[in-house]
Formats: sequence, C-alpha cells, structure tokens
Amino acid sequence: LTPRSLSPPISRRSASRLLFFLSGEETGIPGAEARALVKAQDPTARFEIPHSRVLIATTTADPAKIETRIAYSRRVGGMVSGSGLDAEQLKTLRRGTYAISVFDLREKGDSKRLVSRVADEIGGRVSLDYPDVELTVVRTKEDFFAVTRPSSMKQDWVTRKPRARAFFHPSAIFPKFSRVLVNFSRVDVGEIFLDPFCGTGSLLLEAAEVGALPVGIDLQSKMAAGSSRNMKKFAQDWLGVVRADSKHMPVARVDAIATDIPYGRVSSTAGSSTGKIFQNLIKESSSILAIGRRLVVMHPKSLDVPKDDDFVVEEQHHLPVHKKLVRTITVLRRA
Ligand SMILES: C[S@@+](CC[C@H](N)C(=O)[O-])C[C@H]1O[C@@H](n2cnc3c(N)ncnc32)[C@H](O)[C@@H]1O
Repeated sequence: LTPRSLSPPISRRSASRLLFFLSGEETGIPGAEARALVKAQDPTARFEIPHSRVLIATTTADPAKIETRIAYSRRVGGMVSGSGLDAEQLKTLRRGTYAISVFDLREKGDSKRLVSRVADEIGGRVSLDYPDVELTVVRTKEDFFAVTRPSSMKQDWVTRKPRARAFFHPSAIFPKFSRVLVNFSRVDVGEIFLDPFCGTGSLLLEAAEVGALPVGIDLQSKMAAGSSRNMKKFAQDWLGVVRADSKHMPVARVDAIATDIPYGRVSSTAGSSTGKIFQNLIKESSSILAIGRRLVVMHPKSLDVPKDDDFVVEEQHHLPVHKKLVRTITVLRRA
C-alpha cells in the first residue's frame, strides 16, 4: 500500500464549465455562495460573471455536490459550449425524460422557435412535470445553456422555517439564509460544524441538512434545550448542544464555524458588549480551527471586525435590514 501522503493527488474530473443561474437578490451573496462551494472542491477554479444573474466556473468541481446544498442559485449544471450539446450531454438528455426551461431576462422576445429547434435536435422523451434532467436556457443579450437537475435542488425550506419548529424564538433566522452562512464556512460532508451562539439551532439544522456533523453552544439553558428539541425533530446525525459560555469553548477541534452573534435587541448578550463577544469569539476560534479553515460571523455593520493575527478577512457582505440596522457577514480564514 502506498501511504496517502506519498501518492500524488488524483483529480477525478477534468476541468469543465459550470453554469450557475443566480437568484435575483441584489447583493453579492448569490455569486459569493456559488464561488465558495466551487472553491471548497477546487481552490484553483476560475470565474466569469457575464451577466448579473449568470456565473460561469471553469473547474474540476462536481456539480452534484453543489446542487443539493446551494441556497441562492436557481440552477447549476454543466454548460453547453458554443458549438452545441456534446455527445455526453445528448446521452444524459436522451437517457430518461427531460424538459427545456427558458429563463428570459431580455425586455422582450419569444423563445418558441428556439425551444422547438433544440427539442428536435435532442429527440428523446419530454416530461414537463417530472423530468429527470432539464436543459436550462438563460436568455440575456447572449444565450446560456446548461444541463441541470432541478429536482436535486429542492430544499423544503418551509418545513424548517422558525414557526414550524418545535421550539421558537424571535431571534431565529430563516433556513435559506442560515444555509448560506453554513455554505460560506465551506464545511464538507462528515466534517464537524460549530455554531457557538446557536439560539434555536437554525444554522445547526442546515449544517445537518448538508451532511455535516453539527455541534451547538448557547449560554441560556432554554435556548440550548430548545435547539436540541429542534435538532431531534429534523436532524439525523448531530453531535449535540452544550449549555456553555463561548468565551471558553467546550470543544477541542472543529472543521468550520458559522454564527450569528447576539447584539442585545432580540437576543441576549448576557451583559457583555457585542464587540467583546466578537473579540472573544475570534480568540477562541483560533485554537479550535485548523489553518486555512473558516469562521463566518454575522454581526451589525457598525461593529468593526476585531484585528487578530490569526485570521484574515476573506470577504464581507452587507444586508440592510431596516433604517437603523445593516447586517454584515464576514468570512474569516484561519491564517
Ligand atoms: C442572535 S442569537 C442566535 C440566533 C440563532 N442564529 C437562531 O437562528 O436561532 C444569539 C444567541 O447567543 C446566545 N449567547 C449570548 N451570549 C453568549 C455566550 N457568551 N456564549 C454562548 N451563547 C451566548 C444567546 O442566548 C442567543 O441565543
């Protein structure tokens, strides 16, 4: 047997172009989420954004690992090159049933002729309601085609919305938004994910959904017990929720951290300042995260990210909530 460390890295896939049809939110979040999920598999991927709703990645990343967990893209799949469907794509479309879906972002235009021309080329069996695969067409000044699997992208967000859970608290954030924080952390299937201010467990639920092993911490026993109830209702594999102060993390090693820190409006800071909480979080995280791994923090924009030599700020996104509050998502990488 060759020791793993001595064998050369094996890339199972050759680079291809993946198309992301981004959801329409007017923030950088949809594109950033797509990039994070691609780079988690392939750090050397290259990206183009030919339209505000279209991102193209040239990458070895497997779209099957992305389509099942991405929150802010409507479609993900192998792009059809300018010269038309290749033999593999035609085989995929002809193997089972398919549909052609057109997303027309132009001011006006008709797609009937385009659809019938492409359907003639494919032949095969069409199923508009339950297709195995879809030929996605995004029409801008330019047309983009990709072979996608929308049925793998269904997320059932409503079943996990805050009011549908066993335990509710007004500080709970919505599943789709929680998912994007988890995705920014780049946690992989089977890895340990920590939310050190877990509240009702919104991020823990999404981490479990993507196949990670979540662990939560909350200072208040009612929140720790409540998030445990929520996890029991929805999650298969999870490590537990600890009632503790995150100032002294009761865990030795985790693979990724994402959290929504308290700032005393609807969530308690237990007498501490949000700035101090952020500072302690960064300090404690440096001892439980390996170099290169990520800490994702949602905090008020008015709060500066505490300086720390152990972390570099990789990216930030701002989301206006109301007149007085803009939330910021900061992605930090352990240096
Ligand atoms: C903004 S809420 C989290 C809400 C959560 N994202 C959700 O969707 O349910 C912040 C949580 O941090 C907890 N908390 C405050 N100070 C803490 C500390 N020092 N250590 C651990 N948890 C703390 C609060 O009890 C509260 O539940």
